[in-house]
Amino acid sequence: MNKIRVSVAGGSGYAGGELLRLLLFHPNVEIKQVTSERFYGKLLHKAHPNLRKVTNIKFSGLAELEECDLLFLCLPHGKSMGNIENYKKIAPKIIDLSGDFRLSNPLDYDKWYGHPHSNPAMLKEFVYGIPELHREEMKKANYISSAGCNATTVILGLYPLFKEGLVMEDRTCIEVKVGSSEGGNAASESSHHPERAGAVRSYKPTQHRHVAEMLQEMSFGKKLDIHFSATSIDMVRGILATSHVFLKENLDEKEIWKVYRNAYKDEPFIRIVKESSGNYRFPEPKLLIGTNYVDIGFEKDPFSNRLVVISSIDNLMKGAAGQALQAFNLMYGFPETLGLEFPGLHPI
Ligand SMILES: NC(=O)c1ccc[n+]([C@@H]2O[C@H](COP(=O)([O-])OP(=O)(O)OC[C@H]3O[C@@H](n4cnc5c(N)ncnc54)[C@H](OP(=O)(O)O)[C@@H]3O)[C@@H](O)[C@H]2O)c1
Repeated sequence: MNKIRVSVAGGSGYAGGELLRLLLFHPNVEIKQVTSERFYGKLLHKAHPNLRKVTNIKFSGLAELEECDLLFLCLPHGKSMGNIENYKKIAPKIIDLSGDFRLSNPLDYDKWYGHPHSNPAMLKEFVYGIPELHREEMKKANYISSAGCNATTVILGLYPLFKEGLVMEDRTCIEVKVGSSEGGNAASESSHHPERAGAVRSYKPTQHRHVAEMLQEMSFGKKLDIHFSATSIDMVRGILATSHVFLKENLDEKEIWKVYRNAYKDEPFIRIVKESSGNYRFPEPKLLIGTNYVDIGFEKDPFSNRLVVISSIDNLMKGAAGQALQAFNLMYGFPETLGLEFPGLHPI
């Protein structure tokens, strides 16, 4: 078969770099162009040293993008929406990894992002990019908006419970612990090593933008309250979400297990992690580094109707590049797991 010719805009960043690591070994992909202004004209490994001797592709400029089959946009927030009409002329299919097209209601951009959307008409053209929720739409889609990394972790952890109406809609509390790569590779005061190393820093106690995605995907027409806080910890990759939900009926753990098994038994990238002994009784981000898996565990509080759901991903894989490649496979009718079938490292 002819390979799919893809280009990557914003290929010098962390999400773009991870995507290139995957695309370079995908059997049905030919990489046409990769853009960066900072690394213009240089080999990819100047930005991504892990790709040394893997490819001799050089970075192009964003303005030099030529026609291709599919364009991955790995640009900072706000850089896709204003130029989407140009990008549509370059490629008939687009997967955007930013937040620019994730929310279907334009007013949510005013509320959660603090500015109006510059191309609201395009929002309805994009399919929200969690394959486990929108697989059939993705198979027919030309435009996919890859989901937020924290949103992916939380939504996949809680989705079966809200879908089945098993938990109270007015009292969900979630705390996520996140690694530094979530913030991208541009250096800042807070990413400076003496300031970041060893930190346990509450960076978004309320109003995190990804809550909008959680509400969009898990409300099912009801009024849903989600109380979400994010904390940066001393880790480079990974997200661990601890979600506290309250059961409407007193289900036991076996019944909850059945709910998850029914929802996810055929999902290639979702693993239920709940052991009665050993170190790894619950999901742990360290074991997911470099993989597209989502690990989900839970424990029912024996003294109340509280259920604690623990979910975890690698933010650059299932939270960004891996999930985008999963979507790509669906768009072209390839096996969904193509180019993503590997476990993580242990020990690491
Ligand atoms: N990091 C994550 O965990 C994660 C997870 C899910 C989604 N995302 C989303 O993916 C996108 C990329 O994130 P990232 O972490 O890879 O960011 P990053 O490391 O900061 O990379 C940003 C990329 O965009 C380019 N760029 C920067 N400013 C630009 C501008 N004004 N115009 C055009 N290009 C520009 C940069 O290239 P040059 O400066 O070299 O041109 C670089 O290639 C973001 O929208 C982010 O929200 C990130």
